[in-house]
Amino acid sequence: MPADLPYRDPSLPVERRVEDLLGRMTLPEKVGQMLQLDSRTDLKEIVSEKLAGSILHTSPAKMLEAIDLVAKTRLQIPLLTAEDCIHGHSFWPGATIFPTQLGMACTWDPELIERVARVSAVEISATGTHWTFSPVLCIARDLRWGRVDETFGEDPFLIGEFGAAMIRGYQGDGLQDPTGVLATAKHFAGYSETQGGRDASEADISPRKLRSWFMPPFERAAREGAQIFMIGYQSMDGVPITANRWLLNDVLKEEWGFAGTLVTDWDNVGRMVWEQKVAADYAEAAALAVQAGNDLMMVTPGFFEGAQEAVARGLLTEAEIDAAVRRILRLKFSLGLFENPRVPDPERQRTVIGIPEHAALNLEVARKSLVLLRNDDGVLPIDAAAKFRRIAVIGPNADDVSAQLGDWAGNSGQVDWMPDGHPREMTETVLDGFRAVAPAAWDIIHARGADIERLVPDPEGATYPDGQPRPPISQGAPIDAHLISVARDAAIRADYAVVVVGDTVNLTGEHKSTATLELQGGQIALLDAIAATKTPMVVVLMNSKPCVLPESALNAAVIIQAFNPGMRGGRAIAELVLGLIEPSGRMPLSVPRHVGQQPVFYNQIRGQHGTRYADLTQDPLFVFGEGLTYTTISYADLTVTTPAVAPDGTVKAEVTLTNTGTRDGVETVQAYVSDLVTSVTWAVRELKAYRQVLVPAGQSVTVAIEVPAAACSLVTADGRRVVEPGDFELLVGPSSRERDLMRAPFTLSA
Ligand code: NOJ
Repeated sequence: MPADLPYRDPSLPVERRVEDLLGRMTLPEKVGQMLQLDSRTDLKEIVSEKLAGSILHTSPAKMLEAIDLVAKTRLQIPLLTAEDCIHGHSFWPGATIFPTQLGMACTWDPELIERVARVSAVEISATGTHWTFSPVLCIARDLRWGRVDETFGEDPFLIGEFGAAMIRGYQGDGLQDPTGVLATAKHFAGYSETQGGRDASEADISPRKLRSWFMPPFERAAREGAQIFMIGYQSMDGVPITANRWLLNDVLKEEWGFAGTLVTDWDNVGRMVWEQKVAADYAEAAALAVQAGNDLMMVTPGFFEGAQEAVARGLLTEAEIDAAVRRILRLKFSLGLFENPRVPDPERQRTVIGIPEHAALNLEVARKSLVLLRNDDGVLPIDAAAKFRRIAVIGPNADDVSAQLGDWAGNSGQVDWMPDGHPREMTETVLDGFRAVAPAAWDIIHARGADIERLVPDPEGATYPDGQPRPPISQGAPIDAHLISVARDAAIRADYAVVVVGDTVNLTGEHKSTATLELQGGQIALLDAIAATKTPMVVVLMNSKPCVLPESALNAAVIIQAFNPGMRGGRAIAELVLGLIEPSGRMPLSVPRHVGQQPVFYNQIRGQHGTRYADLTQDPLFVFGEGLTYTTISYADLTVTTPAVAPDGTVKAEVTLTNTGTRDGVETVQAYVSDLVTSVTWAVRELKAYRQVLVPAGQSVTVAIEVPAAACSLVTADGRRVVEPGDFELLVGPSSRERDLMRAPFTLSA
């Protein structure tokens, strides 16, 4: 390869280099650039025959092999290497695995989330990976959906804040930053609006609904400079997102000015043929996908032949292919990959991956992710100064690394090179945590108490029609009387029983939506048995998503929501129970009492008849924004200091918080807005601002709140986001629950 070709000359402008290279490429080379293929298959075929421009799911060994193979191709166009680094580098042995996105969302702390993404990028970039498929900006709706753990919860504003923070953290100082990785806003848009929670089912969303709730986090991500958008799996109004020109072109590119790269989700192009059946063959599907504006086709090897055939049959022009290839090449040139392909760097790996500073940040985020939902009679914190206590640490998730790390972590089922997951010593389970932080004289005893599941092969076969592995079926494990009796004995002997229940990775993720939200297997019987001992019970929910609770858990003195709290989560839980840290997490979504209450999100549209079911309240068990501290904080004197605000103005208010307890507390002051009369039906209230403040014991602090008038908007029947002048209410308090909120009026002028 002569070094003097213009496209290899870094002193030339990117556009010149793109055009030079494009001009040298054959149609197969161009179509190859648009492929993102699965490195777990034959790399030689991927790189040397299909000429793929990008790869994913690449083991450390295959990463090196791929780089060698590219060097032997005619034009030596560097690969873009992508991976699902969802809460840390999921698939690099020894990487730091943080709480899941849902866990991180409980911190309500975008600055912390940005630091998590930054640290993740530093680790990821050392491995030769250029791009992460994160963050997820889907809003949690039906909690039976298997991917709730990957979301930031149910509120579009919070999701936008946290997503933007993650994008900043991943991308660092921009494309030239060697510690940066490309961020992906996914899954654009509406993927989480399932039917019955079933994954990738047709999403019944009107354009107004899409613009009202599902799109805002993505618009925020586009403004934040996310380089990549990943297309959802589902269809809307009969059109797969992959073929949705309105969404991809008119909205994303034209309206929002997104100039980055679009990648489909896994085999979206093939799915239009074999699953959704809206294309007769790969040529038709390829034409639909390219003409809608997609650039990279994730794991549709048949796109290689299909796109070429589409050009031959006149379904697609080479100019349309060129437009996509230009965007891919532009990204590669802008990243500087032709000069520095950012290959794995063993020295940097040694000095940055899984290092103590990252573990310390992981502990910090785990601590802040824990939500104390109930603490009757001040059972917690347990007095760590007591001379002797015996604590029984019980439950199937009390000492379970997989449940603690959650999905997208080592051996969670997506890749084949980490059958044993991350090194065991990196994770501190709840049992490890108590052993580490409880005073040496205390007795920490352990009993598993119950199993959650038995795995059985899916009778429909080991693979899906596209050859992807079909996960085994998780069946509830039978109640094990022996396990329960050992646990009961432990609880009887103990001063406190910490019972850690939840779900497993087999009940979480793609293709793994659940029909119910019940605790599975022997867990309810275990909780009943421990409750019956009358030993104070601390229920810790270590689950991918909210579950509904049996009476015995509902009546427990303490409930802590931990979700999947990452490698340091067990220690953080022990610290919380012993009062070594203050609880500060807040729920980023609502928890139903019964699966039938769904959807239970707080920002429901007004207008329903009545407020309850005939046989059950409609109130969630725990509401969006809920979370306790170890002290009591009262709210008073809410004052809007700007009672009349112009459209370009800001609503300003103050509220006084008083800590009436004896411990310092971190309070999350939440400000919701209600538009009193609207031209179309609208949400009862929406979160518009929040502040996290430290309120020292016995003291008062005045907290200032600001809401831009422009944020007090709604979406009209014809899909325009507008602010309607008139009367509004500002609602301020510690949660979204009606009775927790103080109210003050304000008006917006025209
Ligand atoms: C499918 C998932 O929907 C998506 O989130 C993920 O990034 C890709 N597979 C790649 O693994």
